[in-house]
Amino acid sequence: MAKQKKRATVEDLKARLDAINPELFEMLSAPKTHFSFRVNLNRSNTDEVLQGLKEEGFEPKAVEWSNEAFILPIEDREKIVKSKIYTENKIYIQNLSSIFAALNLKIEPHFWVLDLAAAPGGKSLIFSERAQKVSAVEPDKSRFFRMKRNFKESMAKNIQTYNKDGRFIYKACPQWFDAVFLDAPCSSESHIDMQKGITWWSIRRIHKFAKLQKELIISAFESLKTGGEMIYATCTFAPEENEAVVNFLLKKYPNAKVLPIEHKLPNTQQGITKWQNEEYSNEVAKTLRILPNKAYSGFYMARINKDEG
Ligand SMILES: C[S@@+](CC[C@H](N)C(=O)[O-])C[C@H]1O[C@@H](n2cnc3c(N)ncnc32)[C@H](O)[C@@H]1O
Repeated sequence: MAKQKKRATVEDLKARLDAINPELFEMLSAPKTHFSFRVNLNRSNTDEVLQGLKEEGFEPKAVEWSNEAFILPIEDREKIVKSKIYTENKIYIQNLSSIFAALNLKIEPHFWVLDLAAAPGGKSLIFSERAQKVSAVEPDKSRFFRMKRNFKESMAKNIQTYNKDGRFIYKACPQWFDAVFLDAPCSSESHIDMQKGITWWSIRRIHKFAKLQKELIISAFESLKTGGEMIYATCTFAPEENEAVVNFLLKKYPNAKVLPIEHKLPNTQQGITKWQNEEYSNEVAKTLRILPNKAYSGFYMARINKDEG
């Protein structure tokens, strides 16, 4: 008789999360209390947005680390999409962890930035407000066209879009970009809704994404100019898709260096250096896991520099 595959259970997920952080499962299971948005600087400014939202009865709270990111209680989530400020594309609803990560990419006004896994485009929009030019890559056709529409509505005029597979970009564009962001496709553990269960979660999926992420991080690093910085990020907790991918890059490229991430976020944890039977470079401890809390969803990010070598 054919051997039946064992289905992943919530207990399997909990055991893995407990091994990363004993509070993580509870944090992930807690109901959402807040959401966040960012001011679209291509269309408006913070003063206009705050005034407009106030007139429409909203009371957004600023975050400490940016004057363009704000939070609101989750009860306002349905209401805000009907507001004038939102329908005029003056704000963009985006998770605080994503905003924080994108703002951490070091960008100067003359930079050409590569966003290697870009749809729906929220991070490219942040780069476009700071850089001279952005190249946004997305292989999935429907996500690609949604992203293009998003850029148009947001009036971002300096983003070139490519409906391509990010794994091969470096072949056509070796060392082209001043800065690179890789928001890798991942097993999305931070988006698991515990009320609905773990329908799509499995260890197999984690390993499938880890393989793709290793190919993508090579492409990101090879596309980056010497001396440039990149960020590798995911919205999952699995060390196989996070620390292990960064560790893989460090082993393959001695000129890849992990940079510290300065922040005042309370809900974080440094990168882990041991997972199951694996040990990673101590450098990986400089990477950051953002734990789910209020308007922050779970996230992982690593800042990487390409040295002269
Ligand atoms: C986490 S999402 C990116 C979110 C986006 N950076 C944002 O902030 O709006 C990952 C994206 O990677 C895309 N993707 C999947 N395989 C890819 C590949 N081989 N090369 C580039 N992107 C890929 C997915 O379709 C998905 O849109």
